[in-house]
Amino acid sequence: MNYQDLIKEKHSVREYKNKKVDAKIIKELNNFMSISKSLVSDIKTSYEFVENNGISEKLNGICGYKGIMIEAPYYALVYSEKKPYYLENGGYLGELISLKLFERGLDSCFITFSDGAKVSEILGIDTDLELVALLGFGYGKTSKSIFGFTKTGGNYSKAKFGLDDNTKEKYKLTEMVYDGKWGVEASYDMLANRMLEMPLFYSRLAPSSYNRQPWKFILADDRIILAMEKGNSSYNDAVDAGIQMLYFDLVIAETLMEIKWTMGETEGDFDVPDTHEIVAFARI
Ligand SMILES: Cc1cc2nc3c(=O)[nH]c(=O)nc-3n(C[C@H](O)[C@H](O)[C@H](O)COP(=O)(O)O)c2cc1C
Repeated sequence: MNYQDLIKEKHSVREYKNKKVDAKIIKELNNFMSISKSLVSDIKTSYEFVENNGISEKLNGICGYKGIMIEAPYYALVYSEKKPYYLENGGYLGELISLKLFERGLDSCFITFSDGAKVSEILGIDTDLELVALLGFGYGKTSKSIFGFTKTGGNYSKAKFGLDDNTKEKYKLTEMVYDGKWGVEASYDMLANRMLEMPLFYSRLAPSSYNRQPWKFILADDRIILAMEKGNSSYNDAVDAGIQMLYFDLVIAETLMEIKWTMGETEGDFDVPDTHEIVAFARI
C-alpha cells in the first residue's frame, strides 16, 4: 500500500479489542524502524514495544489529555538522545511507526506526557535516552471512513473533501498554504502547476495534539517553508512539526521527488506574525 492510501484512511483510535498482536509484526516493526530514514540524521534513537500488563493503570494521571491515559493492549515508545531538533525527529519517527502499524491492520494513537523519565521508571525501561514519543496500539474497536475522496483523473483540485462525523475536521488546503507571503491564500491551480497539490493535500490530514493543526506552509519561488503556531507545549509543538514534515516527505516522494527538510529559519521576509514561527524549509 502506498502512503497516500494509508494517510487517507488512518485516524487516531482510543478503544481497542483485547486481541494479541503477532510477535512477527513487532519484529517486523523493529526491523523497519532500524533502517528507516529519519528527519535529522545523526541522532541516536531506540524503540520499545511493550504489552500493557497493568501499565495503563500506572500511567493514568501522568499521561494523556488531562491525565487520562489511553488504555491500549500495547504501547510503542521512541527514545532519543538529546540533540537539536530531537523532538521533531521523535514525532517523525513516532508517526512512521503509526503508519507502519496501520499498514499491518493495527490502529494507534499518540499519547501526550510531561515526565518521560517517570514513564520510563514505571515501565522499568533503563536508558540514557529521553522518551520522545509514546503511542498506544492494537486492533481498534471502531472503523471510520472518509467520504469525498473522489479521484478525478489524478486532479483533486475541484473535488470536495470531507471527513465523516467520526473523524476530526481538518483545515482546507487553501487555509493551510500561503503564496509567497503570510495571509495570501494559495490557489489550487498554482499548487497543481507546481505539483505540490497532492503532498499538501495529504499533509493536512496529519495528526496533531488536540487536533490543533498548528501548521502553515508558505510557498516561496524555490522553497516550501513550514511555520508553526506557538503556545501549546514546546514538546507537542515540536512533535506536531515532525509529524507534518513526515507526511509531506512521504507523499512528495511518491508524487514528485525526494526532498530534504532543513531545520530552522530561512532568509527572506514572509510577514510571519508573532503567533507563528518558521521551523523548517525544503528546496523544491
Ligand atoms: C503529540 C500528540 C499527542 C497526542 N496526545 C493525545 C492524548 O494524550 N490523548 C488522546 O486522546 N489523543 C492524543 N493525540 C491524538 C490527537 O488528538 C489526534 O491526532 C487529533 O485529534 C486528530 O485526529 P486524527 O489523528 O484522527 O486525525 C495526540 C496527538 C499528537 C500528535
